[in-house]
Amino acid sequence: MRTAFTDLLGVQHPIAGFNRSPAVVAAVTNAGGLGVLAATGYSPRELDAQLTWIDEQVGGRPYGVDLLVPEKQAQAGTDGIRASLRAQIPDQHLAFVAGLLGKYGIPAGDGPDWMDEIGAALTPAAAEGLLDVAFGHRIALVASALGTPPPGMVRRGQAAGVVVAALVGAPRHAQRQIDAGVDLLIAQGTEAGGHTGTIATMVLTPEIVAMAGGRPVLAAGGIASGQQLAAALALGAAGAWCGSVWLSSTEDVANQAIKAKFLDATSSDTVRSATRTGKPARQLRSAWHAEWDRAGAPEPLPMPLQPMLVGEAWQRIDAAAAAGHPGALELESFFIGQVVGSFRELRPAGEITAQLAADCEQQIAGLARLAGLLG
Ligand SMILES: Cc1cc2nc3c(=O)[nH]c(=O)nc-3n(C[C@H](O)[C@H](O)[C@H](O)COP(=O)(O)O)c2cc1C
Repeated sequence: MRTAFTDLLGVQHPIAGFNRSPAVVAAVTNAGGLGVLAATGYSPRELDAQLTWIDEQVGGRPYGVDLLVPEKQAQAGTDGIRASLRAQIPDQHLAFVAGLLGKYGIPAGDGPDWMDEIGAALTPAAAEGLLDVAFGHRIALVASALGTPPPGMVRRGQAAGVVVAALVGAPRHAQRQIDAGVDLLIAQGTEAGGHTGTIATMVLTPEIVAMAGGRPVLAAGGIASGQQLAAALALGAAGAWCGSVWLSSTEDVANQAIKAKFLDATSSDTVRSATRTGKPARQLRSAWHAEWDRAGAPEPLPMPLQPMLVGEAWQRIDAAAAAGHPGALELESFFIGQVVGSFRELRPAGEITAQLAADCEQQIAGLARLAGLLG
């Protein structure tokens, strides 16, 4: 299959695979797709190590890096970014989270207090540091989400011959990205895991294609099979940007407890909630969300205050869930899209990539027969 995306990136399949695990990124790239590493959350030193490892695995085949740079978020005061962000978290919220963890008997954590690091990780300055590292490697694409790209990303991409991409959830977002000079748009529908808008992929993709002015558009959200990839191509997309499906891969680093919950889930078991990051993000529905929905629960705080508030709690929940703690298993959740209902087993990411491509080709051939174009 040859599309504007495969031509632009020099890949075999019109499939981009977004994941935080370097092993998934390398496997997708080596199977002929474009692996894209989620860089947010890594320190510059960690990112450098991960990209060095990927470089060693992929033998010059193309891969990308994704940065989450929120354009709108709570700002620090003049008394120093760290102290003033922390001071914006109300006592009521701290007491609520402590009470929630107590109710489910979640054991105390023994790690350092990293609330300030979470606040600092989501700033344009942190993104610049990660970009410095990324541009020091053989990346073919750099993507950003939650607003126009950070300062310098488009300029640096153009200078280095690196494709600059942006995720958009609505036509008005796409126009701002086009004005900022991005090369590739990713139309992400509400079905997607992670931060999403409210428009479905089926509706959003042709809207973005119509305004993209010839730039390639990838469809994202709700694509985890060859049939869905064929549908994305039929909508005018040049390929698919997939996130959730890799959480059903053997290489993904999520703990076995959440992977088991994913395998049991149906497509109705996700929720779009701001309780983890401060912005609406689709995730697996659990007792965590029921607690935040209760009368008297506080409203989630804006980004980055909410991740600062709940970051340590999630580290404790994940650790306890991985050890089989019953209360933690009730709360356990992670970002995932509606395609979670299609997960049947864990499989190698390369196998998932190959099957997406093969099933898509078969589906398109079937449609061609339907139209009388093939015998
Ligand atoms: C676990 C998870 C984390 C995500 N985190 C980010 C992120 O940090 N940056 C980003 O641009 N997109 C993020 N996304 C969205 C993906 O890039 C992608 O657009 C989305 O997963 C596509 O829809 P799908 O989940 O139905 O495949 C995340 C998605 C998932 C499932």
